[in-house]
Amino acid sequence: MHFQELIHHRQSVRRYSNQEIDPSLLNKCLEAARLAPSASNSQPWTFVVVNDPELKNKVAAQTYDKVVNFNKFAQDAPALIVFVIEKPKVITRVGAFIKNKEYPLIDIGIAAEHFCLQAAEEGLGTCMLGWFNERPIQKLLHIPENKTIGVIVTVGYPSADYKQRHKSRKSFDEVVKYNSYTT
Ligand SMILES: Cc1cc2nc3c(=O)[nH]c(=O)nc-3n(C[C@H](O)[C@H](O)[C@H](O)COP(=O)(O)O)c2cc1C
Repeated sequence: MHFQELIHHRQSVRRYSNQEIDPSLLNKCLEAARLAPSASNSQPWTFVVVNDPELKNKVAAQTYDKVVNFNKFAQDAPALIVFVIEKPKVITRVGAFIKNKEYPLIDIGIAAEHFCLQAAEEGLGTCMLGWFNERPIQKLLHIPENKTIGVIVTVGYPSADYKQRHKSRKSFDEVVKYNSYTT
């Protein structure tokens, strides 16, 4: 796929078939995430792949509850990738403090999107989840309490009837300004 085609093709997939993912495909997506850029090349991340069915269901169950259940579909995804934020290099931390920027959060978002785009190119569907119960997931996956989970990505083959949706986005003119923020 050409890049623009890929960008249009990638969408959040919230219905999955039960087809297994070839481990080499998953590794290709993880490799795309590993090669993502990051502030001072800190690479402040660990990608925890959760594909053991029982464990995956337990982790998925921590992304919704009876009241807020929009992430219930996570149960149907054959795998979840937990993007753990690691401490960046000292220089990045100093820079982040001086400039009041959360570089590792930016970095993890880029890595997650690399993963999702590679997955889309391989015919896999993904959805980023920012809504989950952090502590129970840390316990299930033995992630130390002092670390943060940036985002969780569901991954699997879209169900056969899954359709391409229209992209609902702000207009080009609303978000692009040349030379001045105000017009
Ligand atoms: C940081 C982040 C967190 C998100 N969290 C959730 C989530 O918890 N549940 C969900 O269904 N979608 C989640 N999404 C997906 C967005 O809703 C989706 O990307 C957006 O509506 C645009 O749709 P598209 O991905 O199909 O283009 C998240 C996306 C991002 C980038």
